[in-house]
Amino acid sequence: MSKDTETLTIALTKGRILKETLPLFSSAGIEPLEDMEKSRKLIFPTTREGVSFVLLRGSDVPTYVRHGAADVGVVGKDILMEFGDEGLYEVLDLDIARCRLMTAGIESAQQRSAAKIRVATKFVNIARDHYARRGVQPNVIKLYGAMELAPIMGLADEIVDIVDTGNTLKANGMVPRDHIADISSRLIVNKASMRTRNPIIADLVSSISDAVSARADSLGMGD
Ligand code: PRP
Repeated sequence: MSKDTETLTIALTKGRILKETLPLFSSAGIEPLEDMEKSRKLIFPTTREGVSFVLLRGSDVPTYVRHGAADVGVVGKDILMEFGDEGLYEVLDLDIARCRLMTAGIESAQQRSAAKIRVATKFVNIARDHYARRGVQPNVIKLYGAMELAPIMGLADEIVDIVDTGNTLKANGMVPRDHIADISSRLIVNKASMRTRNPIIADLVSSISDAVSARADSLGMGD
């Protein structure tokens, strides 16, 4: 096996997902050599020779993996639903960062007629698909964050967003409406890397899968 086939670049999503991701890799014997949450670096060597982490925004992870700049990635299912899974395999549900993708609106607001509904979201493709399935063609307004503000400010009638505890909706006088999908983080692999680096990737997937099962058992979720 050449040296190159023993190296692996793993793209991780920064933010809340990272906290739950690192223990899974740690169980697989892969730990960053420095604290990724404190450092301003973007590339992190790990305790496994030849294996490095890169730290990205979630929406950039599939792009790095699709183009082979990273071999493996960890990303939310919401991002995969929005940007598609071309050029990559979704190999494992990591069962972390669980939440729901929902529509939501202001509790007291009168529902607009479907023909005129304005929907603010960063998930424009998911939103169009969801409303289309209900026979509605909304005016979709792309935002990059703080979606809950849009109905309050009169920019939109509903939002499509991630709901975890529901506290953000509640704090802003909003209520969840349609459940679109259950979300969790997924392990993804570049299609070419899966062939060219199969031994190291298969080994990694197997170790992470064991770590996911062990975590489920420890949380009393196992069967
Ligand atoms: C997400 C989401 C909601 C919030 C929901 O935002 O967009 O605003 O979490 O969580 P809750 O139901 O537990 O209140 P995040 O903080 O990830 O930032 P974002 O606006 O960049 O998506």
